[in-house]
Amino acid sequence: MALITKKPRGTEDVLPRDSYRWQFLENIFREEAAAYGYREIRTPVFEHTELFERGVGDTTDVVQKEMYTFTTKGGDSITLRPEGTAGAARALLEHGLFNDPLPIKNYYLTSCYRYEKPQAGRMREFHQFGMECYGTKNPAADAEMIAAAKAIFDRLQIHDLHLEINSIGCPTCRAEYHKALKEYFTAYRDELCDDCKDRLERNPMRLLDCKVEHDHQLAEGAPTIQEYLCDECREHFESVKAYLNAVGVEYTVNPKIVRGLDYYTKTVFEFISGDIGAQSTVCGGGRYDGLIEDLGGNPMPALGFAAGIERLLLTLDAQGIEIPAPDSCDLYIASMGDRAHLKAASLATALRTAGIKAEFDVVGRGLRAQMKYADKLSAKYSIVLGDNEIDEGVAKLKNMQSGEQKEISLDPEQFISEFTQAKLAYDFSE
Ligand code: HAM
Repeated sequence: MALITKKPRGTEDVLPRDSYRWQFLENIFREEAAAYGYREIRTPVFEHTELFERGVGDTTDVVQKEMYTFTTKGGDSITLRPEGTAGAARALLEHGLFNDPLPIKNYYLTSCYRYEKPQAGRMREFHQFGMECYGTKNPAADAEMIAAAKAIFDRLQIHDLHLEINSIGCPTCRAEYHKALKEYFTAYRDELCDDCKDRLERNPMRLLDCKVEHDHQLAEGAPTIQEYLCDECREHFESVKAYLNAVGVEYTVNPKIVRGLDYYTKTVFEFISGDIGAQSTVCGGGRYDGLIEDLGGNPMPALGFAAGIERLLLTLDAQGIEIPAPDSCDLYIASMGDRAHLKAASLATALRTAGIKAEFDVVGRGLRAQMKYADKLSAKYSIVLGDNEIDEGVAKLKNMQSGEQKEISLDPEQFISEFTQAKLAYDFSE
């Protein structure tokens, strides 16, 4: 029978030897989110297709070209989430979270699915860490959200991330801007891709992030929204910049940033890495004050960001930032003879209960092979149990790196206490 060894294109396995890298990042995300008062939200990996059509926008590339959509046996149209915001907003509405004290602060760690052309940093299944806050219009919140993202990247010791910000206004100021864009692109109508011809009529701003090269070039010369911002949006943006200055977060205003999803209003931002090639945006976000209303709820301002975990890992690698590999084994208990085998099993059980990573032989190897295995595990310590050790109730605890040995009691309680002291001294000396 043929071996099945091919994963679907654009997906990755995270192997046991590498998963600590993911866990390291995930732990930092969780700790930082908690420090900012965010709690985790988990939503289904699939949602009704309509949620993304209305939330993300049916003129976006994500909805038009990239969604994994299928019809269920029951006849429902279902889509694997292409991003985390729409599902979290749906859950907020469904469970009346808007009644909770404001602001509501949610974070998520999720897989997302987009049918894109895979390349370095662009996957069909990828993972996001996101922080999202509902219930504040205040520009201080925009700056805090950006600062929170930056704090996480700083903690990961990533350097040279470039922060770009922009304001893309609100529906009021956008009406005039749409007219200007329409006028500009109509002159090139025949050169546009078919999707953009449609976007020209329905949502001209979406032409600005079309991935088709020629359309992209045309977009370079298009008017920017800056001149069309209404007073409120202009003041909001000025205030966000003042807060960012006050907290010492460096940024560049890039009037070309429009983001690829329809729900954004006012502030948008991206963190860009110069070290990972073309797919260089490691984090994107902004304000989306209209989303809850677009989904049928009462208006509620919102803002947030999501960072791509694969792209962060690529950046860490490119910058030579090492993630510490955890120790896999504190103590290997080698044994010879039936009594010793049983003692090894019971001692390991007691040690594990006390949080010590202990292993013993469950393969039936001889002593030499057991010690070889302990070496491969990079066990910090080992003991060898035989009839003598069992009779005397003591064994030799060996530091596998220095070769140093000292006696240790085989009484489980005493063992744990003596071992913990030895290990502490070891960890300390490292
Ligand atoms: P987004 O810019 O589409 O925004 O995605 C956020 C991040 O996910 C990107 O900056 C990138 O790091 C990562 N990413 C996106 N697509 C891929 C892909 N195909 N392969 C690998 N990584 C990818 C959003 O998704 C918004 N929901 C962010 C947000 C949250 N805005 C407000 N709250």
